[in-house]
Amino acid sequence: MDSADVLKRIPVDQAIPGMFVHALDASWMAHPFWRSRFALQGEGDVLALRSSGVAHCWIDTSRGADVAAGSASLREGGADTPADPPAAPATESSSRQPRIPALGDSVAPLHRAERLAVKAREVVRALFCQARAGQAISLDDSLAIVDELTAAVATQPGALIGLVRLKSKDNYTFAHSVAVCTLMIALARQLGLAPYQVRDAGMCGLLHDVGKLRVPGHILHKPGKLTPEEFGVMRMHPQHGVEILSRGGQVPDSVIDVCLHHHEKMDGSGYPHGLPQGQISLLAI
Ligand SMILES: [Fe+2]
Repeated sequence: MDSADVLKRIPVDQAIPGMFVHALDASWMAHPFWRSRFALQGEGDVLALRSSGVAHCWIDTSRGADVAAGSASLREGGADTPADPPAAPATESSSRQPRIPALGDSVAPLHRAERLAVKAREVVRALFCQARAGQAISLDDSLAIVDELTAAVATQPGALIGLVRLKSKDNYTFAHSVAVCTLMIALARQLGLAPYQVRDAGMCGLLHDVGKLRVPGHILHKPGKLTPEEFGVMRMHPQHGVEILSRGGQVPDSVIDVCLHHHEKMDGSGYPHGLPQGQISLLAI
């Protein structure tokens, strides 16, 4: 069965528990959910969807309940598909989705790009929290961020500055990941790489430091110089990252390669393998 056969666009007031939401008919920035694919597991989820401001959503009837008989969806299958169809099978989507705070007054004065950076950072935080809990990194959720950032870099003058300058001590790793992701996207575009390579580059930036989850906070956030022992612990974060990204087998090999080798140096003095120039991939340099 073609995937389009099971996708239906429905008004959110027809949503019921047991349905599987495949996509929301709104920009990622415009809705409060940090992922756009998830199961409606109870009345609370349905209420959250109905009060989100999103008018319509796409449901996947192969993964959840269908609309009730007599309340036909607006469009079924065929030529009409969600604006952002799936590039890969959804993962982790059946788990209850945590919500991030809606963007409120405190960020209203910020430039749209900065608001995007705030949301992206929170999504990265949620992704990393899942990884810390032993779950696989969700490819769908990672790609959602990368695609939003790519669109911002491509269409909004000045977006780059807004996206990379968001930093704070408490969430340095999350903000850093968003910033590096954005810069990698910009660099890949500048190099004239193909869209799929730009996407890969963004994924590399987003996930390269995920292994820092396993570095104790007192080392990760130590203001002064690390002792040799502490540095030894810090140097393990690329391997930790590979272990985390390998769960589920969905993260591209190129992204795992960059995670492992992003601290290699051209003169061979980097870690973990001390690779010389020529053995370090383009995106890991
Ligand atoms: Fe790193």
